[in-house]
Amino acid sequence: MANDLENIDTAIEASKKVVVSREKEIGESAEYPRGPVGLDIGTSHVVMAQNKGKQIQTVKQLNAFFTIPYSKFTKKILLENDISFYEKDDLFYILGFSAENFARMFNADTRRTMEQGLLSARENEGITVLKSIINTLIKGSPNRNEIICFSVPGAPLDNLNSVVYHESIIKMYLTSLGYKPSSINEGLATVMSELANDNFTGIGISMGGGMCNVCLSYLSVPIITYSIQKGGDYIDTLVGLSVGENATTIKSIKENEFTLATPPKNRVETALEIYYIELVHTLLQSLENTLRKTDKIPKISTSIPIALSGGTVLPNGFKELFEKTMQEVDLPVNISTVRIADDPLNTTAKGAMVMALSEEI
Ligand SMILES: Nc1ncnc2c1ncn2[C@@H]1O[C@H](COP(=O)(O)OP(=O)(O)OP(=O)(O)O)[C@@H](O)[C@H]1O
Ligand SMILES: [Mg+2]
Repeated sequence: MANDLENIDTAIEASKKVVVSREKEIGESAEYPRGPVGLDIGTSHVVMAQNKGKQIQTVKQLNAFFTIPYSKFTKKILLENDISFYEKDDLFYILGFSAENFARMFNADTRRTMEQGLLSARENEGITVLKSIINTLIKGSPNRNEIICFSVPGAPLDNLNSVVYHESIIKMYLTSLGYKPSSINEGLATVMSELANDNFTGIGISMGGGMCNVCLSYLSVPIITYSIQKGGDYIDTLVGLSVGENATTIKSIKENEFTLATPPKNRVETALEIYYIELVHTLLQSLENTLRKTDKIPKISTSIPIALSGGTVLPNGFKELFEKTMQEVDLPVNISTVRIADDPLNTTAKGAMVMALSEEI
């Protein structure tokens, strides 16, 4: 018992450390992790987090692939250039960030292993590719008992699609690598990462590429969790359809030039703003409806904070848009502050790692 409590202290301390993040470099080999690992398996990125000294270190890989025809010649060149790939049925499957470079050359889109937060039902090779992408970040557990905590989405509202299949496939794979896997809800991961100073009480919302995940936590206990299957990809697709551009072009404009802090300057920016407003409104409306329907809300007398994470919260002015939209709904809990996570693209992995540390034996 004493040991258990020490672990919790270590975990809480870790949640207050700074995150030092980087992208997996092409040709860089996977690590043998030492100690507990947090793994964020997201629609856009897979991120691994470890507790190292005074820092949390995260490494990110793109959760995407691209196929090119098999040839002996190409194989030699791929090997010489340290490209991550595997061969199947006369095709090379190029993995992660390397896939993005190929897609750009072919003026095509990369393919995804996941869609709207879950394993894609449309890609036959999706599971094999996702496993290979995980392999670019971590090797098998060296001691065959390392704890790994991976993120899973909450059950989507209004959709039969279950997370059980997705979660089970990943759990089986991590077990086969020698880890002791456990899962954490993605919204709760935001709470674990960002709300240590609030006794892990509040609402954590992760707004990613494929979905938005919500968790109302009371003293670190997830009371309500759910997801909506709309996120950054939805914005890219709908804006693209509205202005006649492909989603990849829109994504790049959104990530590199777009701001919500000043009025839009052209058609694309106008459409981006419209769909951002719509997404935040849908999310907050779903929060009001879900909280009103439940009889589980703890009678919290004080106000609670909302912590926002995920790549979709990155544009300047997002917090202000969120606060403004909150006035359009009537949440049955009092909100003290709205906060953007310290490092929105790495919050889920950090929260998962905090959970993994607390479970260490
Ligand atoms: N600077 C930026 N500005 C706006 N959007 C961004 C920025 N950087 C990334 N994004 C968007 O964030 C999304 C990816 O976020 P994130 O990596 O948190 O998602 P994920 O965890 O992989 O997906 P999910 O949690 O939905 O399964 C994409 O839609 C991407 O376009
Ligand atoms: Mg995510």
